[in-house]
Amino acid sequence: MEVYVINALRELSDAEFENALSKVDSGQRERIMRYRFMEDRKRGLVGVLLSKYAISKAFGIPANEIIFEKNKYGKPHVVGGSGVHYNISHSGDYVVCAVGESPVGIDVQEIKDGSLDVVDRFFSKEEKEVLAMTGEEARRDLFCEIWSLKEAYIKCIGMGLSKPLDEFGVVKKDGEYRLIVNGEWSKDYHFHKYDIDEKYSLCVCSQEAGFPTETEYVKLEDLYLT
Ligand SMILES: CC(C)(COP(=O)(O)OP(=O)(O)OC[C@H]1O[C@@H](n2cnc3c(N)ncnc32)[C@H](O)[C@@H]1OP(=O)(O)O)[C@@H](O)C(=O)NCCC(=O)NCCS
Repeated sequence: MEVYVINALRELSDAEFENALSKVDSGQRERIMRYRFMEDRKRGLVGVLLSKYAISKAFGIPANEIIFEKNKYGKPHVVGGSGVHYNISHSGDYVVCAVGESPVGIDVQEIKDGSLDVVDRFFSKEEKEVLAMTGEEARRDLFCEIWSLKEAYIKCIGMGLSKPLDEFGVVKKDGEYRLIVNGEWSKDYHFHKYDIDEKYSLCVCSQEAGFPTETEYVKLEDLYLT
């Protein structure tokens, strides 16, 4: 598995955006242009280009031969690419992509102040217990970490928010993040958190255990080569 990171969205000028947009297919162009704000359009476009870059590098498929389709919950995959797994996430300045030979889910999110009210509705019993035992100062970071781990999991299984978030938990056990469903610990999914930026949380979930120790930073110009 590899994890690719781009944090150069601010360097993507509007003119470069137009040029790069012309390199993706018309379906993707329409989807990207449906976003109201330019920032979202740029994240969407860089997401497509980074996916192609990562899949091409990992599996040797020429980028212009990679076509995406979505499952019924919206998770994209490569047409005809059995054994090719990837997932992307975007937030703030970052677009990230994980690629590997097993189902994978990735989540990056900007850590923002706000209420932790959602804990009651969306966190499992075990997650609530861990949060309750955590001091006030560390609680927000832990909340964001758990939220990001949960998102990575629902994206790995491909169900997105159709999977009720309180039905499972991801908490640390013996120093490792573990999935717990109805009080039963599962060994089927593995989790990894990367410290890329103190203002962001980045988590990956996969059915394979071999996470790279470091993420790989990609430059905007690398994407135009695909
Ligand atoms: C998947 C989901 C949890 C992602 O949430 P998010 O934190 O806003 O977005 P992220 O940046 O982490 O990820 C977005 C990317 O995940 C991928 N994705 C979309 N649905 C996915 C799914 N079911 N499983 C895995 N990945 C998915 C897409 O590549 C998407 O990027 P793109 O739209 O630019 O192609 C959420 O959007 C979702 O469940 N969507 C499904 C539709 C839905 O239930 N909407 C709620 C209506 S109220």
